[in-house]
Amino acid sequence: MDIFEAIHNRRSTRAFQPNPVPKTVIEKILDTAHWAPSWANTQPWEFLVVGGETLRKIGKEFSRRVAEHVKDNPDIPMPPIPQEWAEPYRSRYMAVGKGLFDTLGMARDDKAARVAHYQRMYSFFEAPAVIYVLMGKTLGQYALFDCGSVTQTICLLAEREGLGTCIMAAAVRHPDIIRAHVPVPPGKKFVIGIAVGYPDPDSPYNKYRSSRVSLEEIVSWVDM
Ligand SMILES: Cc1cc2nc3c(=O)[nH]c(=O)nc-3n(C[C@H](O)[C@H](O)[C@H](O)COP(=O)(O)O)c2cc1C
Repeated sequence: MDIFEAIHNRRSTRAFQPNPVPKTVIEKILDTAHWAPSWANTQPWEFLVVGGETLRKIGKEFSRRVAEHVKDNPDIPMPPIPQEWAEPYRSRYMAVGKGLFDTLGMARDDKAARVAHYQRMYSFFEAPAVIYVLMGKTLGQYALFDCGSVTQTICLLAEREGLGTCIMAAAVRHPDIIRAHVPVPPGKKFVIGIAVGYPDPDSPYNKYRSSRVSLEEIVSWVDM
């Protein structure tokens, strides 16, 4: 698959087939993805790949927290939405939710459907595996930048392998639950989770295609 094709084909996958992803496939992806660049080649990332019964247990506990409205406690705080994401970002943010819910045929006031959606999201859309990206607790913005770069590289390689991915802040909102189920190296914080699996082609969840603004809105050219 050509790199342009992989980038254009990739979209967040929010429904998966139940079959597991072979460990060798994820290993192959990570073995190439960690050639992503990083500040002074510090390679600040670490990965924790969780699947099977352990992941389902984590998902169940996440969903329960959401149902009980328990406040989240991510290692990296969520940005305050109204203050930090003013226009033009707010409209883009709102458009994703609306676009996804419209594709699912969910009415604005259908509270039960929304709750069901969030329950699914907090069980990582039932993906057979989640790749958690971690970094050192003392590291800051530059390391985060590098974790973003390796995350996208993982998603593109997964696309090339016929897999779907969803980068998920939701997957790291209750890191204490993950730590209770899996041995997390001490001194590390959870950056993000990447749900990974073979996409369910029939699910309406995967029919939604996000858009992008035009190049004119984001590029300035000087002396070119
Ligand atoms: C840092 C980050 C966190 C995200 N967290 C979530 C999440 O918790 N749940 C979700 O459904 N999608 C999540 N997404 C996916 C975005 O909504 C998605 O990438 C964006 O809408 C663009 O759509 P696309 O990935 O289909 O191109 C996240 C993406 C990023 C980069």
